[in-house]
Amino acid sequence: MTRDKDRRRFLVATTMVVGGAGTVAALWPFLASMWPSEKARVAGAPVTVDISRIEPGQQITVEWRGRPVWVLRRTPEMLAAMETPAHRARLRDPDSELATQQPPYARNATRSIHPEHLVVIGICTHLGCVPTFRPDLAPEDLGPEWDGGYFCPCHGSRYDLAGRVYKRMPAPSNLVVPPYRYVADSIVEIGVDPDV
Ligand code: FES
Repeated sequence: MTRDKDRRRFLVATTMVVGGAGTVAALWPFLASMWPSEKARVAGAPVTVDISRIEPGQQITVEWRGRPVWVLRRTPEMLAAMETPAHRARLRDPDSELATQQPPYARNATRSIHPEHLVVIGICTHLGCVPTFRPDLAPEDLGPEWDGGYFCPCHGSRYDLAGRVYKRMPAPSNLVVPPYRYVADSIVEIGVDPDV
């Protein structure tokens, strides 16, 4: 059911995807008729996303290399809640010290190039389920300390709105931030590092 939900979000999100391999939805029918090498090339190509229409607090899902990638536009309130000492004390790796989980340019307090937008692969680092986006504060089922984040329904792992896993969860590490860059103020390309 979660995957169905995520798939629906992806279909909505593709209306915001532009250019290059970004027309992911349009590519699906063609993939079946391609030679394996061509399929691999398209499946691994960068995805370009127009983030200008993501409302504050909203998240979209695009597909890159067969995996869901979330682009979340965080509000100032979300960002503030993520950095309180009480919140950080509940996280396993608040400073993203495990280098395999994000590129160097996302190894910072918000795990992103620009604090407002999180770009992260939506796959739980425990056994690969797709967590659910739960931005609501202190909902009844997640408890009074919930500051908004991602909840994995398979075995209960919890992540915050930077994809940082909480302590004492089955998941061993933070969600993975893929390579990405801004090619314009409102255009993000997933799968490519920024120019150095
Ligand atoms: S796969 Fe997410 S907690 Fe196990």
